[in-house]
This record gives sequence, structure tokens and C-alpha cells, in this order.
Amino acid sequence: MSPIRPEIAALERSGIARIAVGALDDPDVIPLWFGESDIVTPDFIRAAAIAAVDRGETFYSNSRGSAPLRQALHRYHQRIYGLDPADERIIVPGSTMLGVMLSAQCMLGGGDEILLIGPYWPNIGSVSSICGARTREVRLREGPDRWWLDMDEVADALTERTKAVYVNTPSNPTGWIMSVDEQRALLELCRKRGIGIISDEVYHRNVFSGRNPAPSFFEIAEEDEPVFIVNGFSKGWCMTGWRLGWVIGPKHLAEPLAVLAECNNTGATVFAQAGGVAALDEGEAFIATFAERCRTNRDAINEIIGSHDRVSMLEPEGAFYAFPRIEGVSDSLALARRILTETRVGLSPGYTFGINNESHLRLCFAIETGRLTAALERVRGVLDNL
Ligand SMILES: Cc1ncc(COP(=O)(O)O)c(C=O)c1O
Repeated sequence: MSPIRPEIAALERSGIARIAVGALDDPDVIPLWFGESDIVTPDFIRAAAIAAVDRGETFYSNSRGSAPLRQALHRYHQRIYGLDPADERIIVPGSTMLGVMLSAQCMLGGGDEILLIGPYWPNIGSVSSICGARTREVRLREGPDRWWLDMDEVADALTERTKAVYVNTPSNPTGWIMSVDEQRALLELCRKRGIGIISDEVYHRNVFSGRNPAPSFFEIAEEDEPVFIVNGFSKGWCMTGWRLGWVIGPKHLAEPLAVLAECNNTGATVFAQAGGVAALDEGEAFIATFAERCRTNRDAINEIIGSHDRVSMLEPEGAFYAFPRIEGVSDSLALARRILTETRVGLSPGYTFGINNESHLRLCFAIETGRLTAALERVRGVLDNL
């Protein structure tokens, strides 16, 4: 008998990796499949990290985050939300991805269940499996004007075994931004049922209308309840390669979270954290410029893809993805493969984002506008011939 846990032996890479593998190094492919832009991290952030390396900051540091970055996170929360988290609540374990993993490790064990608000980022499914938990899903309602969460469906999907709800707002892949009312209703329901929340807010600064930052569970949850606000630098500041993020966790878990950070990664890369300080303190102008580019790109996608008569597409409110439904399509992987072969444009197949997404494709629209529109015109050509 194999000593490998069956949950681990069964893990598979997401549909995004499945389609991208083999075409990753092809310079002719316009990549709309991954969640990142083509903008190199701004120079003031790079310079701060380079200066840290030059100062010799190459040693182990506090696994809960370096003192300067922790202080910067206090300033940042105070500035954008008007609220300062208790110091015990802040942890900087490494990437946002790792923050999600740590939060799940706090709540999920063998036989537990987690409810995913879908369509969802595929890695959360794998995180749940790694922890030995089973997933259930409540899919957002689609339309007529926007994506929205039916709270009765959520209540019905919770079971005796449910330990946590995972929600990602602004959302990958739909661009939905959870309203404050929806957040309050979910929090109330979870409180009543003794269930925790993992709120993945990594796109909190990628917002097209309404307040930037998007509404956060940080603003409404008590400091000691089982609500984990997971965040990071990748999406707002174009720092995907830095692997840097933070969690605002329940106050009483400061010690266990420090141990988890220690055992998963022994803290985030020390000179990357110096870049993080610069991003938080000096990044507002960049955030605004990047959001403006994405807003322009969102309009282009509405016009070129959203207007096609086979497409129904709700306008993304945040993040930087469109998630159109293509009428008559029932195999999203086959369609994504066809688009890749015929047009050299890389898209993600809908099926990988949870149930009932086989007619959908996900397009990341964070790249340079001219290149994006060229890619979209090619995709439209394939839709014309379906
Ligand atoms: C919803 C969501 N959460 C977390 C992550 C991981 O972010 P990071 O690269 O900062 O670890 C991603 C990346 O695509 C994401 O889309």
C-alpha cells in the first residue's frame, strides 16, 4: 500500500495550466490566461528591494513579517479603511497563496467541509483537498445586470461539517464585487452557524467603479472572530513574481499563525518585504494608473467580445477578468484549445472555475491595450465561425 495520502496522489493542475502547458514559451501567443499584466513592477518598488539587498538584508527575519512592513501595513489600513488592525492580527507569511493556505490550515481537517462561493479561483479547491476537506459550492447568480449572491442558497448549502466559507471579492473570474450588505449578511449567517470565513481580497485595489478599495470584511468583522482577510501585493502593484502577501487574522491566533508561517515558509523573502513597504507607502499613483488602464481595457472587451451576438457577458466591476458565456458551447476546454490553435491567443477554459461554467471562458484584460484589442479581434473571429 502506498504511503502517499490519496488526496495528494489525486491532485491535478488546473485547467489554466492544462491549456497553457506546451505554449508557454511561444512568443507568438498573446497570453490572456494568467492573472497578471505585462507591466514590470514599478521602479520605486524595485529600487527599495535592491537597496535592501545592497544593505545586506539577506538574513532570516521575523516570520510574522519584518518590523518596517508591519508598520507600513498599520499605516496602510489606517489610511485606506480608517481602521488600524491590532498588531497581533497581522501576519506576512509569504504569498497571498500561502495566506489562503494558512487560513485553511487553521480551520480545515479531514472530513470537514468548506463552502466555496463560485465561480472560484481553482487553487482554493486544491487547498481544500490538501487539508483533507471536501468542498461544496454555491454559484453566484448570473444577471440580469450583475453577479449576485443568493444568501438562502448559502444557508441551505451549509452542513454540520461546514467549517468555513471561502469568498473572493473582487472576484476572479467574474469581476463581481461583494456589496457591504452581502458581506454583512454572510458574516451574520456564519456567526449564527459557528462557521469561519476566508475572505480573499487580493484584488481589493483593482476596482472600476465605486470605492477603491473595495468593501472589506476587515471593516465589519470583530477582531477576534474566525474571519481571515487574505491579501497581497501581486495584483494591485503588479508584483506577481515577488510572492508577497499578508493576512489579517483573529487576534487570539497570533501565536499559532506565527508557527504556521514559520513551518510553511519561515516568513516572506526579506528584501521583497522592503519592496512591499514602498508599494504600500508610495503606490497610490500607480494603483490609479493601472486601474485606469484596466478600465479602458474592460470597455474594449465589452465592445469587442461583449457585443457579439453569441456572447452574454456581465460587466466586471473589479479584478481584471471577463467571464463571458458563449451560447451553444458546452466544452470550454475544446473552445479554448481551438482559439489557441487558430489565433495564438491563450484563454482559460470556464470549467476549471467550478460548476456550470462549461460555456464560459476567462480572459485576463490587464495587458497593454493595443495588444489586448488585437487579441480580442482574433477571438471574435473564431466566435464568428462557431
Ligand atoms: C483569487 C486569488 N487569490 C489568490 C491568488 C494568489 O495570489 P499571489 O500570487 O499573490 O499568491 C490569486 C492569483 O491569481 C487569485 O486570483
